[in-house]
Amino acid sequence: MTHAPTPFPEGFLWGASTAAHQIEGNNTNSDWWRKEHSGTSHVQEPSLDAADSYHRWPEDMDLLAELGFTDYRFSIEWARIEPARGHFSRAELAHYRRMVDGALARGLRPMVTLHHFTVPQWFEDLGGWTAEGAVELFTRYVEATAPVIAEGVEYVCTINEPNMIAVMAGAAKAGNVGFPPAGLPTPDEETTRAIVEVHHAAVRAVRGINPDIKVGWTVANQVYQALPGAEEVTAAYRHPREDVFIEAARGDDWIGVQSYTRTRIGPEGPIPAPADAERTLTQWEYYPAAVGHALRHTAEVVGDVPLIVTENGIATDDDERRLAYLRGALAEVAAALHDGLDIRGYLHWSALDNYEWGSFAPTFGLISYDPVTFERTAKPSAVWLGALGRTRELPGGE
Ligand code: FCB
Repeated sequence: MTHAPTPFPEGFLWGASTAAHQIEGNNTNSDWWRKEHSGTSHVQEPSLDAADSYHRWPEDMDLLAELGFTDYRFSIEWARIEPARGHFSRAELAHYRRMVDGALARGLRPMVTLHHFTVPQWFEDLGGWTAEGAVELFTRYVEATAPVIAEGVEYVCTINEPNMIAVMAGAAKAGNVGFPPAGLPTPDEETTRAIVEVHHAAVRAVRGINPDIKVGWTVANQVYQALPGAEEVTAAYRHPREDVFIEAARGDDWIGVQSYTRTRIGPEGPIPAPADAERTLTQWEYYPAAVGHALRHTAEVVGDVPLIVTENGIATDDDERRLAYLRGALAEVAAALHDGLDIRGYLHWSALDNYEWGSFAPTFGLISYDPVTFERTAKPSAVWLGALGRTRELPGGE
C-alpha cells in the first residue's frame, strides 16, 4: 500500500547535525585531542584538521541552505570557550556568535549543542563529571555562553548522548576491555547520577539566559528488541542504558531521539545480528526502521514532551544505500506522525563526513570533502533530502 506524503507539521525542523570536534579540526585543548596523541588508547587516527569547519562553516551553511534545509544543529566547544579554568575567551564566543548569525542570515535555524562528548583537558584532569564541583563548573560555562545563545537560538541541547557518556565511563572503570560483541558496556552509576544533575542545572541556566529558549538533551536509542520470553531481561537491560536518561527529560521542552540500528535481546542478554545481516561501515546492522521504534519508545517513557529526531543516518561509502536507508527511515517518521506522535523535526547525522571518534573511515555525511583542499561536494542523498525541505512533505512508506 502506498501512503500519501505526510505534510510536515507547522515549523517542522528539517536539517542536518554535526559536532564541533568531529568537523572543526585542531581542537587542541580538549580531552579527545590528548587521547588521540597519547599513544595508549584505541584511537586509530587523530582528528587533526578534520573538515576544517572551524574556518569553513560559511561554506557548510551555504551548501545546506542551497540544498533546501531549514535547520542546522552544531555544537559549540567548551574547550575553546573556557581554555583555562575560569578564563572565558571573548574571541571564541564571538566566533560561535558569528556562526549563529551566519545561520540565521542564510535562513537556517541554528540548534546549538553545548556539550558533544569533548571537555577541556583541565576539566578531565579534575576528574570530569563525577568530580567535586562539576555541576557548578558546567553551569558557569553554560552561563558564559549567553552571548552565543541568548538571541535567535530557539533550540538548545545541554548534553549530547548522556547515556553514552555513562557507558564510556563504565567501560573505562572496567579497564577499557572493549565493547561486547553485542549491546553496550554497563554504564557507571555515579556518572549517570552526576550527568542527570548537571543536565537539570544546565536547563535552569539556559532558561535563566532566555526563558523562551526550548531546552532539552539528546539520548542515544539502541532499539532494544526482546526475543520471545526475554521481555523482562530486555527492560532490565535497557533501563540503566536508556530509560533513566529519557525519564530525566520529563520536565524539558523537547527530547532528542538519536537512532541508527537495533539490538536484539534473548534470555541471556544481547545477541549479535545474524551472520547474513547487511552491516554498515560501523558494523551496525542495516536497519532503517530503527528510528520509528526509537520515537515510539521515547514517547512511551517521556510522556508528552515533544520529540525531535536529532540524529539518524548510516555510515556507508555507497550513497545508494544511504538513499535507501533514508527512504525507509522517513517512512517510519511519517507513520509515527500519522499515529499522532508529537514530532517536531528531523535532523540527519551527519551534514558532513567527519571524525567518527577514532577514525575517519565510517562516512556518515550527506556532504563529502577533499582532505587536502577541503573542497565540499554534496552527495545525491543530500540533494534528495534537502529537496524535501522545500516541498515540506515527508514521503509516505510503501
Ligand atoms: C552518535 C554521536 C555522534 C556520531 C554518531 C554516529 O553516537 O552523537 O557524534 O558519532 O553517533
